[in-house]
Amino acid sequence: MNVGHAVRWAAEHGLPRLGLMALHRKGDTFAQLLSGDEGRNDPYTLIDQLRGEGGVQTVKTGYAVFEHGLCKEILRDRRFGVRTPIDPMLPGPIRRYVESIELPPNPIEAPSMFMMDPPEHSRLRKPVASAFTPRAVARLGDRVREVTTELLDSMAATGSAELISEFAAQVPVAVIGEMLGFPDSDREMFLAWGEVVTPLLDVGISWETHQRAMAATAAMKTYLADHIEKVRRDPGDDIFSTLVTSGELNTTELMASANVLMGAGFETTMNLLGNAIPLLLAHPDQLELLRAEPQHWPNAIEEILRFEPPVQLTARRVLEPVELGGAPLQPGKSVIMSLAGANRDPAKFEDPHRFDVTRANAKEHLAFGSGVHACIGASLARLEGINALPALFERFPDLRLDGEPHRRGLSTLHGFDRMPAMLSQAAEVVPAATAASED
Ligand code: HEM
Repeated sequence: MNVGHAVRWAAEHGLPRLGLMALHRKGDTFAQLLSGDEGRNDPYTLIDQLRGEGGVQTVKTGYAVFEHGLCKEILRDRRFGVRTPIDPMLPGPIRRYVESIELPPNPIEAPSMFMMDPPEHSRLRKPVASAFTPRAVARLGDRVREVTTELLDSMAATGSAELISEFAAQVPVAVIGEMLGFPDSDREMFLAWGEVVTPLLDVGISWETHQRAMAATAAMKTYLADHIEKVRRDPGDDIFSTLVTSGELNTTELMASANVLMGAGFETTMNLLGNAIPLLLAHPDQLELLRAEPQHWPNAIEEILRFEPPVQLTARRVLEPVELGGAPLQPGKSVIMSLAGANRDPAKFEDPHRFDVTRANAKEHLAFGSGVHACIGASLARLEGINALPALFERFPDLRLDGEPHRRGLSTLHGFDRMPAMLSQAAEVVPAATAASED
């Protein structure tokens, strides 16, 4: 056992885990949201209870906010910084010891931009954001269309599909591979990496889950170090090559950026695609409308993001005394912002639990965050949604789920890990490419 890793786990996850489990046993609604099956399967009922009269709620972990206006305000307010993994409320010497223990590079370990405040954050973010040139994003669009067609063709050949592993996960993993210049043959490795590393975003993960994530990130460190050397010698036409050759980031920072792009761009987009399928199938009138008037698809993607946000919550730390919504907030404490709560706030979205692909203000959701840490990949995620989803429903007009899809056991990220489905009878035997050539 790696003692350093065990101490970091104990401080970051073990203690909060014990606290959450005790609260959960007492029926605490916030603990249910953060760590229970109730929160994973139906977070919105709990959120409505927690929102109560509104304002800043005091919870066992610090504060929590469920309103659109307040969430947005905090995300844009520099008096709040990112949540450091190690609780600043721990006594000084213990905190310094825990902080001195290094973990392999991962999306929530400095110098990941997720974990940095300005001005350091801006120095790390700017070159990554600039590498997303319109030309590079357009190229990714071509790749999305190409991969979607390949995936639909291969699904059509069998008549049934596991829509997460065969579709929703494959589109983003191909895009990330393209973005970082990884060979296609390594796709399965990234899928496995994503599966074990993303739980790090949750509060109170188990020691086994943490160990699996650390083993994967250690392996990725070696892979990325080799990849960065290769790109330096022979840069490609991809976003990561632009970043490496810009010379603005050192090797550790490049590794952190690659980690954050993989961590932030993969499972989130997989959940956008995966959440959309049962949602649209459960609302046949909406799907029918999209079939008749496909111009509503871009707004439908926004409504899907509003209604089932792939990232349900994020957190910040109070940096200085702040008064918000009439409540004094204590420096050092953490504030959890429920992006899902913001997206279902009745003060912002009329009849918020109604799924309506024509909703006029759907795009004002907070699914991509807001402020200095707002999602860099938002336009890319939209591009993936707008290409992959209509193509799926067009190719398989009789698509239906084969049993209940299974939710992934995470609270921060919200999505499914298994979704068996039956495709249409016609699609079972006649792949579109063949059908087109016979016309
Ligand atoms: C539907 C898909 C996606 C969703 C819902 C999503 C959501 C988010 C959210 C909520 C944040 C802000 C977190 C915070 O403020 O604490 C964020 C940040 C970020 N996202 Fe996304 N994201 C998605 C796709 C992507 C993609 C495809 C990429 C890259 C290829 C990406 C890259 C990033 C990066 C690098 C950040 C960190 C920005 C910073 O710290 O300055 N995301 N994302």
